[in-house]
Amino acid sequence: MSSAKKETTIVAFCCIYCAYAAADLAGSMRLQYPSNIRILRTPCTGRLEVEYFMKAFEDGADGVIVAGCEEGSCHFKEGNLVAKRRVNYAKKLLAEAGLESDRLRMVNVSAASARKLVDYLKEMAATIEKLGPSPLHTVKQLARQESKS
Ligand code: FES
Repeated sequence: MSSAKKETTIVAFCCIYCAYAAADLAGSMRLQYPSNIRILRTPCTGRLEVEYFMKAFEDGADGVIVAGCEEGSCHFKEGNLVAKRRVNYAKKLLAEAGLESDRLRMVNVSAASARKLVDYLKEMAATIEKLGPSPLHTVKQLARQESKS
């Protein structure tokens, strides 16, 4: 067995109207965020189904962060509130499946909040660093080995 530490991956679903714009601004301001974070530009977070979060974990993410507009500022009125409910529901599903619910988190930022977004991304990276790689990786690896034998 390899003793090399596995690099973790965090998927960040960022609403195009706020969080993605904040990420873009962070780039312009040369603010650094952890390199294991993969930013995905999405429409309003209210369009994100629970399955999307689960698929990200299934496809190898160790953590998922959903970044939407601030409450009361969603361009589609309540999309971010819908997302909040879905994230909370998905967190329960993760816990039932034996995964730490802290691997999934929702945050709210404005387009101008580059620093706040970067802080959230750093916090998430620290959480995942503490939790380590998702146990799903080991399960998948074992399943692959089993199917080869
Ligand atoms: Fe950004 Fe709805 S438009 S969360």
